[in-house]
Amino acid sequence: MNLKGRDFITLLDYTSEEINYLINLSARLKKEKYDGKPHKHLEGKNIVLLFQKDSTRTRCAFEVGAMDLGMGVTYLGPSGSQMGKKESIKDTARVLGRMYDGLEFRGYLHTDVEQLAEHAGVPVWNGLTDMYHPTQILADFLTVKEEFGKLEGIKFTYVGDARNNMGNSLMIGSAKLGMHFTAVAPRELWPEQTLVEHCQEIAKDTGATINFTEDTMQGTKDVDVIYTDVWVSMGEPKDVWHSRIKQLSDYQVDSAMMNNAQPKAIFMHCLPAFHGDDTDVGMQIANEFHDEYPRVKNGEMEVTDEVIESTQSRVFPEAENRMHTIKAVMLATMSDDYE
Ligand code: CP
Ligand code: NVA
Repeated sequence: MNLKGRDFITLLDYTSEEINYLINLSARLKKEKYDGKPHKHLEGKNIVLLFQKDSTRTRCAFEVGAMDLGMGVTYLGPSGSQMGKKESIKDTARVLGRMYDGLEFRGYLHTDVEQLAEHAGVPVWNGLTDMYHPTQILADFLTVKEEFGKLEGIKFTYVGDARNNMGNSLMIGSAKLGMHFTAVAPRELWPEQTLVEHCQEIAKDTGATINFTEDTMQGTKDVDVIYTDVWVSMGEPKDVWHSRIKQLSDYQVDSAMMNNAQPKAIFMHCLPAFHGDDTDVGMQIANEFHDEYPRVKNGEMEVTDEVIESTQSRVFPEAENRMHTIKAVMLATMSDDYE
């Protein structure tokens, strides 16, 4: 398997074999890290991280991953560079591509990361756009594989805003890897029909199934994984909270939903999550809406505190796996001599 020079923009660009290879390479790098075995295979190289939106996990995963591989890292935040203000994306790509060996981008428009990839001349990795979040899926699937020993045939249910970057990317990943994906959401929050049809085409070759339902009990019955994400994503205006809570408060992941899944089912979330009274934003929203929507009390929104703190929750190992999987993506796309 040689992925040297490839961008990592969406899982649609990768075959099932390539995705499985990246997940297996991540597991290997994770073991090496746990065993204290150095793996500075990219010593002397440098990468730059371009963030138009906030991040904890993705930024730190790229930084630690790069340092473990022996690389230097520059971080450019939402207000730290000329990009998109006095300088076009295209020019930024052509400048940074001459200084760095790889570029990570987190932003709004998916076309921006595509443009960077077109002009940088070095690998470009998508750290999240409004449309896709592909590095997250590798971490999620590594976590599922660690739990169940396989991905093919796993019943994976996503509950919530199914047409956001996470809903889209989990559906694509599931289609590619032969999983049984179900999105549980009100119809108006199902993914775009063209993407659904594309995934259904992919599924014909892999044995995957792609299903949609508005019924939370039907969609979570006997499944292996229940996954959710925030109801309002970065970049969406604050005033969508009211309508989104109205659409999704009945879709909050709670113990009744978990008990409807198979007894060994796990709960997953890409994080950050609103699950308790210890975030300012969560409390502000809960206080504003809990009279009308009692489920959003005490800062609990997409998931209850009970579920995220339960023994079924895998959210923290999942977050750690961001680092091992992002490291694998960098190594595989920057080097051709790593077996
Ligand atoms: N899951 C995820 O991408 O987290 P951050 O926004 O903290 O990077
Ligand atoms: N859908 C979320 C994912 C965060 C990792 C967002 O875009 O804000």
